[in-house]
Amino acid sequence: MSRIIITGVAGFLGSSLAEYCLEKGHIVTGFDNLSRGCIENIEAIMSHSNFEFIETDLTAQEQVALTFPSADICFHLAAINGTLFFHDRALDVISSNISMTMNVLRQCLSTSTRLIFTSSPEAFGLVEHMPLEDYNESKFPAASDHQRFSYGATKYVEELAMHYAARQSLDVRIVRPFNVYGPRLRGKKDGQVIGRFFGQLLNNEPLELHYEGTHTRSFTYIQDAVEGIYKAGLLDVSLKDGKPLAGLSFNIGSDKEHKMIDVAHLLVRLCQEADVALPEKPMIMIESGHPGDSSRRTCHPQAAKEHLDWVATTTLEVGLQHMIQELIQEVSSGAR
Ligand SMILES: NC(=O)c1ccc[n+]([C@@H]2O[C@H](COP(=O)([O-])OP(=O)(O)OC[C@H]3O[C@@H](n4cnc5c(N)ncnc54)[C@H](O)[C@@H]3O)[C@@H](O)[C@H]2O)c1
Repeated sequence: MSRIIITGVAGFLGSSLAEYCLEKGHIVTGFDNLSRGCIENIEAIMSHSNFEFIETDLTAQEQVALTFPSADICFHLAAINGTLFFHDRALDVISSNISMTMNVLRQCLSTSTRLIFTSSPEAFGLVEHMPLEDYNESKFPAASDHQRFSYGATKYVEELAMHYAARQSLDVRIVRPFNVYGPRLRGKKDGQVIGRFFGQLLNNEPLELHYEGTHTRSFTYIQDAVEGIYKAGLLDVSLKDGKPLAGLSFNIGSDKEHKMIDVAHLLVRLCQEADVALPEKPMIMIESGHPGDSSRRTCHPQAAKEHLDWVATTTLEVGLQHMIQELIQEVSSGAR
């Protein structure tokens, strides 16, 4: 049994990770300021005897020092995430994400707590070559073009995590989830495409396809992503060679690449099969999107496969079916 800290616990990934850690018998303290996450996400675990929730702003260094309990492992997930914010709130994204990461790194160093830093494929910037390797080079366009990479820059501070691992002997590991989706993402309009699609379905609006649906992504079902992140944190040594995992980076993503137009067609078909009402015109094409959007993104999760014995196993079709079933249940129970 480990004592685990999860920052960003009320968010999409953090809440599912907390549930999983509790199921495995660990003691979890979760932190969030509820700016984007919500209490509903952690309602089911609030009364769990091994769970404590602390509402706090992790950008305040003294709060982190005062409130962090002694722990074995810290999963740092708190961040301002969501594509719209990268452009509209670049200053908040940069200052919050970097100060939180600095605060958490310092605290983990002073308490010798193993740290799992949740980075992102956005840490690679705008790279043409696909799939993205665990140790891919990063390439960023000029900051004067747009602020899309305000968020990617705060994930490129993997540099900081590596500094703490190499120079201060802190056990830091990096995980990069690739387009995670699942039931709690439904309806979010400010972020990931599958969440937006479900939001549009709920409002009886057509699915909006930017760039006429030609862009691609690797989509990773929440349960798969949580298992990968958990293994990256809980394993003491590599399953490949028995060596420490400190300083390693893991792409946590499916290696299947999907075009958005195909995702939309699949979702429409699955909704029809499940008798979910669709708007008369189920999708609309839009020529543009956010400046700086990568036209392709796909994942090569080699290090996770080798060192953690982890691969994503849920197909997009099965993952979307889970989301549709949850949607139907909520609508029929009157929760929506
Ligand atoms: N979901 C994905 O597909 C994906 C992909 C790549 C990387 N990530 C990373 O994984 C992590 C979790 O992502 P998510 O999808 O669950 O995002 P999310 O927005 O649902 O969760 C982030 C949480 O951090 C909290 N937070 C923000 N600012 C805070 C502050 N100042 N103090 C305390 N809490 C604060 C938010 O309230 C939110 O609950 C993030 O670091 C994100 O960058 C996610």
